[in-house]
Amino acid sequence: MYNAAVITVSDKGSLGQREDLSGKEIIKILEEAKIYTISEYIIIPDERDIISKNLKEIADEKKADIIFTTGGTGFSKRDVTPEATKDILEKETPGISEAIRTYSMTITPRAMLSRAISGIRKDTLIINLPGSPKAVRESLEYILPSLSHGLNILLGREAECGQK
Ligand code: MTE
Repeated sequence: MYNAAVITVSDKGSLGQREDLSGKEIIKILEEAKIYTISEYIIIPDERDIISKNLKEIADEKKADIIFTTGGTGFSKRDVTPEATKDILEKETPGISEAIRTYSMTITPRAMLSRAISGIRKDTLIINLPGSPKAVRESLEYILPSLSHGLNILLGREAECGQK
């Protein structure tokens, strides 16, 4: 099992002015996968410092194995989730975000408009997802089957790559 956290980044969501459908969609998909326990679920505004502080706390103190963010990856002036994530990452995992965009672009060319990134901080993998339930579903359906192998290596549960 992996301990997973979900952070929805949305000004309106954090003020209770919009229902958080994409965060709930992530939780539903992770629960259906049956190998994730949801340990944290928060909705926070599109503020760089608040996003990076929460990512840091959930990684370092709450020891999440994986954190998914949703929202704030586009071109709006308030979209700063990738920058806030980069502020606290130790290593980037560009392949995961490239895979999400490449697969998603077979569904909609607008997937190229997501600036989402991903990476590792200590023992935690952090993955930005775009901010709609549709985008979340499409992204996770492609990456989830391969994530557990990466997580096992990160967490020392698998010594090396079995499949070359
Ligand atoms: N990715 C997938 N798989 N499906 C989508 O419908 N929408 C795109 C993109 N990524 C989309 C997607 C659009 S229209 C935008 S503007 C960006 O994600 C950024 O979204 P965000 O600002 O809500 O994070």
